[in-house]
Amino acid sequence: MFYPITRLRRLRNCETIRAMVRENHLSIDDLIYPLFAIYGRNVKNPVASMPGVFQLSVDNVVKECGEVVHLGLKSVLLFGIPETKDEAASGAYDPDGIVQQAIRAIKKEFPGLYVITDVCLCEYTSHGHCGMISGDTVLNDPTLNYLADTALSHAVAGADMVAPSDMMDGRVGAIRTKLDQHGFSHIPIMAYSAKFASAFYGPFRDVAESAPQFGDRKAYQMDPANGDEAVRETALDIEEGADIVMVKPGLPYLDLVRRIKDEFHYPTAVYNVSGEYSMVKAAALNGWIDEKRIVMEALLGMKRAGADLIITYHAKDAARWMGEKA
Ligand code: PBG
Repeated sequence: MFYPITRLRRLRNCETIRAMVRENHLSIDDLIYPLFAIYGRNVKNPVASMPGVFQLSVDNVVKECGEVVHLGLKSVLLFGIPETKDEAASGAYDPDGIVQQAIRAIKKEFPGLYVITDVCLCEYTSHGHCGMISGDTVLNDPTLNYLADTALSHAVAGADMVAPSDMMDGRVGAIRTKLDQHGFSHIPIMAYSAKFASAFYGPFRDVAESAPQFGDRKAYQMDPANGDEAVRETALDIEEGADIVMVKPGLPYLDLVRRIKDEFHYPTAVYNVSGEYSMVKAAALNGWIDEKRIVMEALLGMKRAGADLIITYHAKDAARWMGEKA
């Protein structure tokens, strides 16, 4: 008869010892909650493909931030749905645009809440692409100044951090330069570094009303097949001045979270995107899965992969569940 000498089950005997040897922990400090600001008053539009997520007018954004703060969350990521869209994405860098208004309103009520803004043009362009276009080409260099102006307008409005998600080459450098020139050298940049052309963004585009009106984003967002290139993208963003790097989407790309963490030892964020959220919600609403356990296991998996920060639509739920345990 063979008896194993090493028995890993010894340290799984009871919850006390399991807790004592546990390697990774999810903290409320790690979570960033996305919010979508829209024009109007007392607007709270549900989104069919993302149960629990709403387009909120600024008054309701502030109300929501009250709940976010109450739950112990530290940070939100702001997106805007402008009143009108045009070729030049004017709403993105309008000093009185929807995101700029939302930042001011949040900061007035909750100065300690850390406000991060998504810097991109796709919600603001009539064609829904993340940059300026010529014919059906999304232009790189002519887009950079618009992105930099957008980031600057967010900083002027009071944003704590900007997060470019457009995937133009050189945007981090352009934004860093512009911020520094205008006295915002203290504002960090969280770069969506390895951002893939993913079907997992589908539900987000319903909320943000940002689906491209022609073609797709494959000429600027990354090919899901590529890992080495994700490392190169991240290296470039770091060279250009990124303070935090990001992998997006989350669950199907956790190999890259680990590679990028090991390669650069930078604060690394992961975006647990809309499609990941919607799949969990749909299964949960059908009673097919244990939502709480599924969500907490997925978020812990992101930590184990090396993520320091997790952007997730589950943040409020996770905060509530962590509170229950404590
Ligand atoms: C803007 C942007 C997108 C997401 C975050 N910022 C959409 C896109 O690139 O089409 C997706 C987030 C999500 O799916 O939750 N470019």
